[in-house]
Amino acid sequence: MDSLFDAAESGEDREQRLEDLSRQVAVCTKCDLSQSRTNTVFGSGDPYSPLMLVGEGPGANEDATGLPFVGRAGKLLDDILAAVDLTRDQVYLTNTVKCRAAVEEGGKMKNRQPRTTEIRACNPYLQAQFETIKPGIILCLGGPAAKTIIDKDFKITRDRGQWREAYGAMAMATFHPAYVLRQQGEELNQTKRQVWQDVQNVYAEYQKIMEKRS
Ligand code: URA
Repeated sequence: MDSLFDAAESGEDREQRLEDLSRQVAVCTKCDLSQSRTNTVFGSGDPYSPLMLVGEGPGANEDATGLPFVGRAGKLLDDILAAVDLTRDQVYLTNTVKCRAAVEEGGKMKNRQPRTTEIRACNPYLQAQFETIKPGIILCLGGPAAKTIIDKDFKITRDRGQWREAYGAMAMATFHPAYVLRQQGEELNQTKRQVWQDVQNVYAEYQKIMEKRS
């Protein structure tokens, strides 16, 4: 896997490095998720953004299109970003695993959480994305991303909203948009308030970095 890091550290531009990496991902067979995928879902957005958002893994819509966060959770993510005047084109979006994890239930394929072995197999790609994009801020969407990136003992209900350090960046986790969509009534209102608060804190740091750049 050394070649991934070499690619990330060479003098090529970021688009080219990400393109090379995405080609490697497209033919990856490191775990069984490669057997059932339609498309790999590498990532999208601005490779020069100071803010990288990392979700869990592609669902059915993402598997069908090859793009991250294009289903209902993605629509909510767009709304969350819009609340702080950001669009998905101003950030870089990716996932802990680049292929859909699914299980057959009653003749239908349903999304499942990626296994630790699958996340581990895919991790060098995510690390190479971090090394290429060099985000100042990483926002983990949901517990699995936070456990992968920030701390294996991370508990999303206990630790969300707190700044940590990961891959040389300020890192925070908030609830995954799909989790928000599963809440109802007062739980839903509270979860939304928490996510909105977290994203506002993230945006404040994003603005500081953008001001320094200008
Ligand atoms: N959920 C994720 O975690 N990632 C996606 O890309 C879509 C839904």
